[in-house]
Amino acid sequence: MKVIVLKNKKEVGDYVSKIIIEAINNKPNLVLGLATGSSVIPLYKKLVKEYKKGNVSFSKVRTFNLDEYLNVKKTQSYRYFMDKHLFSKINISKKNINFPTSNFKDYESKVKKFKIDIQILGIGRNDHIGFNEPGSKFNSKTRKVKLSKTTMKANSRFFQSLNNTPEFAITMGLGTIMNAKKIILIALGSKKAKAVAKAVNSKMNEKIPASILKKHKNSLFVIDKKAAKKL
Ligand code: F6R
Repeated sequence: MKVIVLKNKKEVGDYVSKIIIEAINNKPNLVLGLATGSSVIPLYKKLVKEYKKGNVSFSKVRTFNLDEYLNVKKTQSYRYFMDKHLFSKINISKKNINFPTSNFKDYESKVKKFKIDIQILGIGRNDHIGFNEPGSKFNSKTRKVKLSKTTMKANSRFFQSLNNTPEFAITMGLGTIMNAKKIILIALGSKKAKAVAKAVNSKMNEKIPASILKKHKNSLFVIDKKAAKKL
């Protein structure tokens, strides 16, 4: 596990987008694993900017999102987030976009078949990756999960209240994520400092889902100064 600390979120987004663009330019049919949430917005902004400048084409790229809520309005879904921030602004083909559904076994098989080249992750304040909450098995696969109260509280900022915040989601498992050839975790801001320090400095432990990334040969944390302050 390698850690790169940069000045701010713009630098983090620029840095990770450069890696992705180089990879797509070397392999136009690259398979990308994608996350949603505030940490990835600077990255998606930069990818859109570079696409508009003609520096990258997504026409053959295939994507697999990490997770999706169950039973939410369309506008609150992660698919909606991705369409808004990335997919509607680039030349990706709709048929190449993949999202987990309640048919999660099929999703697991599809991810296995296509093999993710680069998996992008955020990190939860409780060290979750995807929606693999503390206690998730290191060999877990794509499945239905119940979100913890901490995660629901953090997510409630996108819903009217905690009561309206979804409790269930489908997520790729930790085992699924670890099959990616390269993994890049993005963390921004001081609210992530504790989670980052635990993932980097603790022994691998199922109570700290992100600690599994230590075992991956090609995992990279790209974080800003604030998220690095407890390292
Ligand atoms: C979302 C996902 C989550 C987020 C994490 C951080 O697809 O997989 O694990 O990456 O909750 O969210 P933000 O970036 O909003 O702090």
